Amino acid sequence: MSPLLRIIQTSVLIAGALVNLSFSAGAAESSVIEPILPTCLACHGANGVSSMPNVPSLAGQPDGFVQWQLVYFRSKNRKSDIMGPIAASLKDPEIRAFGAYFAKLPPADPPREADDDPGLSARGKKLAETRRCTSCHGDMFTGAQAAARIADQREDYLNKALTDFLEGLRVGGGVAAMPDAVFGLSADDLRALAHYLSRFGPP
Ligand code: HEC
Ligand code: HEC
Repeated sequence: MSPLLRIIQTSVLIAGALVNLSFSAGAAESSVIEPILPTCLACHGANGVSSMPNVPSLAGQPDGFVQWQLVYFRSKNRKSDIMGPIAASLKDPEIRAFGAYFAKLPPADPPREADDDPGLSARGKKLAETRRCTSCHGDMFTGAQAAARIADQREDYLNKALTDFLEGLRVGGGVAAMPDAVFGLSADDLRALAHYLSRFGPP
């Protein structure tokens, strides 16, 4: 069995879930990823909305962002024990098809529960304004091109991603936009940003 197939099997076991697929979004481009898509969705959620801790939702991410991240995982520019081996064997046409596929899925809804820490959200909102996060991520944080959608992403994952940038574990694109954006912030600042963004609301 190829290493990729082994990873796929293990991943599906880890996820412990079988996923119902629908190929309503662009049947032609989806067909190239059809064999491997169930594996992706086993972790990233049946509709691209994740319910697993520290696994990001992909639904509604800009096409370009998804493609770049898969290229970064493949080239080990972005390090992940999980995504590295998976991306290693992806071909360019598959990466393109994943970009198109996830961009078309409707993004996650904000959490239904009331904000359990409005003070933390207010701090996050203020930080997002001072650090001009919207200048790249868009006024509603929906992302564009290489910049991620960060509105209503999982809070635990946002906190992890921001911490990775702060600690230099993740570098991002050539201009190092994100390490600059979080430079000098504290762990509590990052928690506040994650809390605020994870319950941003519909665009
Ligand atoms: C075993 C679980 C698992 C499987 C299977 C999996 N992923 Fe992931 N994926 C993750 C985790 C965890 C991360 C976050 C990695 C990190 O930041 O350390 C991630 C990150 C990503 C990202 C970056 C998203 C972002 O917001 O930064 C993309 C794109 C992605 N995965 C696509 C895929 C695709 C396409 C497949 C199928 C070919 C796939 N994943 C299969 C767990 C998984
Ligand atoms: C100069 C442009 C720029 C600014 C300003 C900026 N970002 Fe980013 N951000 C990016 C880009 C580009 C990426 C994709 C990084 C990569 O390629 O790994 C990104 C990625 C992210 C991610 C990871 C998303 C994911 O799904 O993996 C988070 C979280 C994030 N930004 C939050 C913020 C916050 C919060 C601020 C303000 C404090 C901010 N960004 C300011 C350009 C920017």
